[in-house]
Amino acid sequence: MNANREQWGSKIGFILAAAGSAVGLGNIWKFPYLVGENGGAAFIFLYLICVLLVGLPVVIAEILIGRTGQKNPVGSFRDLSKGNPFWIGVGVLGVITGFLILSYYNVIAGWSLGYVIESIKGSFQNLENPLAAGELFKTLSSMPQWTLLFHGLFMILTISIIYAGVTKGIERASKIMMPALLFLVIVLVVRGVTLPGARAGVHYLLKIDFSQITGKTIFLALGQAFFSLSLGMGALLTYGSYMSKKESIPDSAVNIVILDTLIAILAGFMIFPALFAMGMNPAQGPSLIFNILPVVFNSIPAGYFFRIIFFLLLTVAALTSTISLLEVITTFTVDEFNIPRKKAAVLLGFTVFVIGIPNAMSFCGWQNVRIFGLTWFDFVDFISANIFLPLGGIFIALFVGWFWGIKKAVPHLLEGTTNLPPFLVSTWTIIVRFVAPVLILIIFLSSIGLI
Ligand code: PFF
Repeated sequence: MNANREQWGSKIGFILAAAGSAVGLGNIWKFPYLVGENGGAAFIFLYLICVLLVGLPVVIAEILIGRTGQKNPVGSFRDLSKGNPFWIGVGVLGVITGFLILSYYNVIAGWSLGYVIESIKGSFQNLENPLAAGELFKTLSSMPQWTLLFHGLFMILTISIIYAGVTKGIERASKIMMPALLFLVIVLVVRGVTLPGARAGVHYLLKIDFSQITGKTIFLALGQAFFSLSLGMGALLTYGSYMSKKESIPDSAVNIVILDTLIAILAGFMIFPALFAMGMNPAQGPSLIFNILPVVFNSIPAGYFFRIIFFLLLTVAALTSTISLLEVITTFTVDEFNIPRKKAAVLLGFTVFVIGIPNAMSFCGWQNVRIFGLTWFDFVDFISANIFLPLGGIFIALFVGWFWGIKKAVPHLLEGTTNLPPFLVSTWTIIVRFVAPVLILIIFLSSIGLI
């Protein structure tokens, strides 16, 4: 046990912080638009299978590496592999991925904060249709001063929480924000499903049409499970390093996965019934919430109020994710280079802000700057989320399943756990050794177009 390392103040603190990392723009912005484009209930069905079959076992493996290693991703892999350079490289890959994801994620998070302010100002009050909302979205996101202002403000919010530390910052913030988030989602679900004509949306989310399932849907569902659970880059590993050995990893992992999945599905119920009630098409793509929702709110009672709540909710969800991304790189810098936490948080946050500027500018004038045909934003998103995360996930499973090895891993897994049935341990072992690496390899190869 590393005596100088801070620990979560309570079990629920860890669960809420890790669930906060998992629940984010992935659940509220990305999951609904993927559902809308890929067959509604059929996509949800596949997503649930992916979360259960691959997501949960790898979440357990990642937290286990962190709690046993008691360090940042690089330090934990180094100690557990006894200095093997390959596994140290896997830790470094995680830290780089955190840096990259934060540099574009913070831009979208900034938009959601900007939308809170615009909602309060009443900018969306007179929009009559999604086209008008789409135009407004384009205008706002293409103004460098607007996008960079909110990118910067959001980074300051993120830094201020990391600055305050693990228990006083992350844990305290998550304990307030996560219940608030769940409450706001439930309010909006109730509002959505009670609108006249909402029933078609509920059907859309519940009636599985198996003819909608294609190879692509399966890959998209698996990829989304990964991103949504914050898996494969050391965020859960880092949070696990603050976890006490008196607590059960499998129990906590189940809670985190349930909360993340619940909020994604509730986000679907918050959006689609309202969307169908307005007679709109669900397959809107990534602009779904920014283009459609401001208009949807215009035609419901108290829409002004619910619009503010919605974007506040998106901002809160994004913030509990950005803090986990900044924490990964901060704890790495603190552990490895002995830089004080506060200094590291400010320096790194500022650096990510600067590196994120080309991401923001991809919407404001730098649309034509292309790397392999993609804008800078799309390129960074693609290599970090589609390449580095699955790669990290495969390595985590292989590390625990083969290199460090099940024999050494299981006793650590059982610490803090009472009466875990042996068949669950063997199922986990089989998944971590065989099922997860093979399945993730398939998504990985497909996402880079090799199969
Ligand atoms: N899980 C977050 C979401 O669904 O929005 C995104 C994310 C956060 C990915 C932290 C990876 C990470 F380390």
